[in-house]
Amino acid sequence: MIERYRQELEELRQRGMLRRLTPLAARHGCRSELGGREMLNLSSNDYLGLGGDRDLLNRFYEGLGQEGCAERYALGTASSRLLSGDTHTAHRLEERLAEAFGRESCLLFNSGYHANIGILPALFGRGDAIFSDKLNHASIVDGMRLSTAEHRRYRHLDYDQLDLMLTRERQRYRQAVIVSESVFSMDGDVADLRRLVDLKRRHNCLLYLDEAHAVGVYGKRGLGQAEAQERLAEVDLLVGTFGKAWASVGAFVLLHEVLRDYLLNHSRSLIFTTALPPVVLSWNLYILEQLASFAPRREKLTMLSSRLRRRLSAQGLCPPGDTNILPVMIGTAEKAVRMAEEMRRLGYLVLPIRPPTVPEGTCRFRLSLTAAMNEGELDLLTDALHGLLSATTPGGGALS
Ligand SMILES: Cc1ncc(COP(=O)(O)O)c(C=O)c1O
Repeated sequence: MIERYRQELEELRQRGMLRRLTPLAARHGCRSELGGREMLNLSSNDYLGLGGDRDLLNRFYEGLGQEGCAERYALGTASSRLLSGDTHTAHRLEERLAEAFGRESCLLFNSGYHANIGILPALFGRGDAIFSDKLNHASIVDGMRLSTAEHRRYRHLDYDQLDLMLTRERQRYRQAVIVSESVFSMDGDVADLRRLVDLKRRHNCLLYLDEAHAVGVYGKRGLGQAEAQERLAEVDLLVGTFGKAWASVGAFVLLHEVLRDYLLNHSRSLIFTTALPPVVLSWNLYILEQLASFAPRREKLTMLSSRLRRRLSAQGLCPPGDTNILPVMIGTAEKAVRMAEEMRRLGYLVLPIRPPTVPEGTCRFRLSLTAAMNEGELDLLTDALHGLLSATTPGGGALS
């Protein structure tokens, strides 16, 4: 029986599709140690550089050992939130998030994955339809699969096609929801929220926006693309995660109070799992309270990203855009694996992005910048990438 799985793994390896774990040691700012070598980590979602900020971490733990610290630093709740795992910190975090986003209420989930697979099937079922961008994250795809609603997928960012689909099909369904990421995690491009809000209004739909890669990073107060594009009040369900810019774990959804109560009663990934530990909730709250003050980090990140993107675009290596996620197209999985190994040899922690994370034939490097990096490091990276790609591509330069 084991032989069958061994063979399938071997086939994956031969096609350059085998996934392996990569344990990292000591972390200094945006640098990580792999196999005893320090590398610039270009694969982390610690966008604001909070995870590697020792001062911030030390300030968070200042109260450790003091009276009543268990409530703040405990490592587990030993129960679902619906049983004895609920805490005042969880409620405080939800209240502060709702206040910050100017919304009626908020509900926490254990991760963005839990949120997407827990919300979509709970709220949308038989007789409903989910209209989803083709490049939405796997957790949204899984949420749709778990839902008994019908799924319709529109071409990536093609709102004319979505408009046409809604014009033709909307009236067949009791309820319809448009689901999109705001910053697309593997492409680094951004949804046009003005158009999405217009479509949801004209076709009487709800708008579900996954801001996993945007909260903390965009908007004056760091609330994400809905803030930056001035659409905060018009997104019906706004999902954010703590696993990226917060350098932590967990997720939240901002929504109507009735929907919050409904999810508490129907969302299986919320009901049937142990609640987030107090130490994580406290950190998430601690970062939320400082979010507006991280504006200089956001500005630096924007500056670094625009600069690197300009340089890579000039060499034909990266599509235009203005987020801190820069895809560099490679092509086949084997090539992406080989070239990522070479990048690591040069001191850059780059991992190949392959199907099913991205469509077949579009394997890539996903360069993920953080505010802890500096211009000099990224200039050297441009040179390294250019050198590597020129050496491996006939005629040099662009691979996409
Ligand atoms: C758009 C999007 N949504 C949700 C998730 C899942 O979030 P989490 O890592 O908190 O489970 C991710 C993770 O990469 C993501 O890119």
